[in-house]
Amino acid sequence: MSAAAEQMLPLSKPVGRFIGERKKMLIAGKWVPAESGKTFPVYNPATGEEICQVAEGDKADVDKAVKAARKAFESGPWPTMSLSKRGRLMHRIGDLILEHLDELAELESLDNGKPISVARAADVPLSADIFHYMSGWCTKRHGVTIPLNVLYTPGVEYHSYTRLEPVGVVGQIIPWNFPLLMAAWKLGPALACGCTVVLKVAEETPLSALRLGEIMQEAGLPDGVVNIITGFGETAGAALVGHPGVDKIAFTGSTEVGRLIVKAAANDLKKVSLELGGKSPNIVLADADLDIAIPGAASAIFFNHGQCCCAGSRLYVEQQVFDKVVEGVSEQARKIKLGPGLDPKTEMGPMVSEIQQQRVCGYLDSGFKDGAKALTGGKKRDGRGYFVEPTVLVNTRAGMKVVDEEIFGPVVTAMPFKSPDDELINQANNSIYGLAAGIWTRDVSKAHSIAARLKAGTVWINCFNIFDAALPFGGYKQSGWGREMGEAVLEHYTETKAVTIRL
Ligand code: NAI
Ligand code: MG
Repeated sequence: MSAAAEQMLPLSKPVGRFIGERKKMLIAGKWVPAESGKTFPVYNPATGEEICQVAEGDKADVDKAVKAARKAFESGPWPTMSLSKRGRLMHRIGDLILEHLDELAELESLDNGKPISVARAADVPLSADIFHYMSGWCTKRHGVTIPLNVLYTPGVEYHSYTRLEPVGVVGQIIPWNFPLLMAAWKLGPALACGCTVVLKVAEETPLSALRLGEIMQEAGLPDGVVNIITGFGETAGAALVGHPGVDKIAFTGSTEVGRLIVKAAANDLKKVSLELGGKSPNIVLADADLDIAIPGAASAIFFNHGQCCCAGSRLYVEQQVFDKVVEGVSEQARKIKLGPGLDPKTEMGPMVSEIQQQRVCGYLDSGFKDGAKALTGGKKRDGRGYFVEPTVLVNTRAGMKVVDEEIFGPVVTAMPFKSPDDELINQANNSIYGLAAGIWTRDVSKAHSIAARLKAGTVWINCFNIFDAALPFGGYKQSGWGREMGEAVLEHYTETKAVTIRL
């Protein structure tokens, strides 16, 4: 598509409203500018053009938001609202997300660069699903009665039970790769447990979460229950992590910032959950159905332009089918249609930002210096927008940066293995990360025994990138602390109180 045509992509009315705006933040139920009055630009990554300005939240704004969340937690209607009403309200948020599916998908595509078809099929419906799923937990999670084992004084009896109470005011910090979905992953469980939230969205992609803020208000969420701050990580993000009024931090992003957060939270021992980077192995055995394994391995890395924490970025292929699989994956890569996300024919959009494009290209350069060879791709696309070609690298081995480090772009490193033995398992587990893994085989017992030995929070067999609100997701090792989604995530947002009464 020509540059002129890209510019001409028509925006719908509700999304067109964002163009040239100065968007405000949501604090205490009001849309407000930053205390400093400062704003910063949000760019369309397909063209590099400014979409609008958003408030540059900082310490003073975070402080206001935390106070609003505290007030809502201690004395607003939220803590005393009936659980069934809380559940219905959350369900309504999910319904409203679906009612605005077209608009949210378009906004996400404009801001993040992802294909609108993907935002429509994945990001938006999965976001709605989190609210729908989590809404059910409001009425279904409670404490238990526990008989005591020790008889202290003969004849004296005790009655003990537990209460599950919300942890309090939660600070949530999210990245730019799935802006709306990450907001939903974070807000859903926190709200279901009765917490109040200050959400700091990624500076690259604030728009869909701001729209979600309006939707939550429309659904009737009381003021101050969710506050949304736009701003940078080093300022607004760090202020939230350091704020003494915050009881817990939930973070998704780089492992590097995860470490900073743990250090900062050590001061007052805030509770912390982390969903960090990955370098997921994707293992193709010779007996796999290659008709599904080849497109599966391609989509494992190229979905969302490789900007996925769980991307199948280390492809291990059994020797006798190596050439066929890497050639097949390369063929898939060559066919991917790059373009602006808003073009309905686009299959892969630009990287989210110029910085991310440079980061990915920096990895490609280092790979080539270390002897890697690109079967396809290997460079950025010239011209407007932050595009990088889908890339398949061979002649790669552990010790190279492209194999060891998270690239977060459409780059897969392919390596052959002799047989599915200890050496393969060691190679697959040879990473500081442990987020996800894939296995492609027709042999059920091999599949299960390899799955059991992989150090990863998620293992996909003959599939990849399958998510569900009911399925826990999170990492071993330096991929994080705790799990998102499912029943497992609720633990992060609850305190268990044991109550004992002498009868
Ligand atoms: P990042 O970790 O810096 O940003 C994620 C979020 O953390 C953003 O909201 C940011 O404002 C905030 N943040 C940054 N510094 C902070 C600080 N000192 N205190 C509190 N909050 C802070 O990630 P970035 O720079 O956008 O991407 C760098 C790399 O991180 C990527 O190339 C990728 O490898 C990885 N990444 C992993 C993600 C995942 O889903 N696990 C998501 C985004 C990035
Ligand atoms: Mg950063």
